[in-house]
Amino acid sequence: MTDRTATLRYGQRELALPIVNGTAGDDAIDIASLRQETGLITLDAGYGNTGACTSAITFLDGEAGVLRYRGYPIEQLAESSSFLEVAYLLINGELPTREQLDDFTANVTHHTLIHEEMRRFFDSFPYDAHPMAVLAAGTVGLSTFYQDSHDIFSPAAVEITSMRLLAKLPTLAAWAYKKAIGQPYVYPRNDLGYAPNLLHMMFAVPAEEYQVHPDVAQALDLLLILHADHEQNCSTSTVRMVGSSHANLYASISAGISALWGPLHGGANEAVISTLERIVADGGNVRKYVDKAKDPNDPFRLPGFGHRVYKNFDPRARIIKAAADRVLAATGADDQLFEIAQRLEEVAANDEYFVKRKLYANVDFYSGLIYRAIGFPKHMFTNCFAIGRLPGWIAQWKEMMDAPETKIGRPRQVYVGVPERAYVPIDERG
Ligand code: CMC
Repeated sequence: MTDRTATLRYGQRELALPIVNGTAGDDAIDIASLRQETGLITLDAGYGNTGACTSAITFLDGEAGVLRYRGYPIEQLAESSSFLEVAYLLINGELPTREQLDDFTANVTHHTLIHEEMRRFFDSFPYDAHPMAVLAAGTVGLSTFYQDSHDIFSPAAVEITSMRLLAKLPTLAAWAYKKAIGQPYVYPRNDLGYAPNLLHMMFAVPAEEYQVHPDVAQALDLLLILHADHEQNCSTSTVRMVGSSHANLYASISAGISALWGPLHGGANEAVISTLERIVADGGNVRKYVDKAKDPNDPFRLPGFGHRVYKNFDPRARIIKAAADRVLAATGADDQLFEIAQRLEEVAANDEYFVKRKLYANVDFYSGLIYRAIGFPKHMFTNCFAIGRLPGWIAQWKEMMDAPETKIGRPRQVYVGVPERAYVPIDERG
């Protein structure tokens, strides 16, 4: 808060509204007293201009293409850090010492198994269930096994729940996939790192040895880092909203997973590959799909393009694009889709419609190609995104719970329906 105010004039009234200062980026007009003072509320579809909270976790500048976790530029973290170190940073606010990181890693690793009864849970879904549905259901399902740690006001309960979630989400995700392809569930290997363990649970079979390729594991770890937080996006806002009702942490995270599933959000990575496949099957005519996306009478949009906040470039997309080359080389994948993707990006980058609206390739445009090169089927991509976003969700949930100003999330509305009218008995209706 500062001494600065913004003045609102409405009819004969004048109201001084305090300005809340950020340490970087947007300042905000605090409108908490607006309705009481004037009888007015604000209306902001999609919350494009609405700050729902103050936050000290992630900063992004959409115009300049800047993304920082706890002050550290994403480029530096992508270059030098690891996913679990980033998870620690997001949740605890500071980079860990070696000892702190070892303890954190040991703690997460210790909890990777899921309750054996949960095998039946996977068995009960149809074989072609979408892994995001299974992951969301499995995450809230975990709460049934840990009823002793639901107390959201107990730091010890929150700590163990956070560790369990970080540890078990990869197991749930991998088992959702194994179920879908009719292979036996592969148990976690606690001698492996976080990303290698996920790859092992996904791709190993009991019948033969599976070696995790170090370059592939590194690429997956990188993707998880890039996904780890993105301030008040749709799924994070959902986690905060559900958490604000004091639902338990499993329920809040499960709701975030459901929000992430949508193709306008995390589900875009799957939609990108489906679109690229469609373009290839349709003869590789990239221009045709760019024109289709521009057609106001066609609901089709180019998945992987555009962003609510980034209006110049998405720094995560730049890092991923550079990594995609390395992964394709490591896996030996001769990826026709990668070539089409590059052509699509080039055509869009030079098209007036896309330039005018500042629609650039976002994180999901190239991440799907890497997931695909690693061997993930496309309906698993968003599960990987969810695993990556989990530390951000936990950090944001904790920040919300610790903030003294937090209240239950409950927006208002401007009612535009029929005013009061009298009930008409059914026989008298025309
Ligand atoms: N293809 C074609 N036109 C687009 C696209 C696109 N991908 N994205 C936006 N537009 C147009 C839109 O039709 C509108 O045009 P007009 O001004 O003529 O009505 C204009 O650009 C502004 O779009 P908007 O819908 O007002 O923008 P928004 O900030 O509400 O939506 C978005 C952001 C990401 C949902 C949107 O750009 C989109 O649907 N992109 C495709 C899905 C996607 O890639 N999502 C992943 C986002 S990044 C990672 C994540 O969130 O998980």
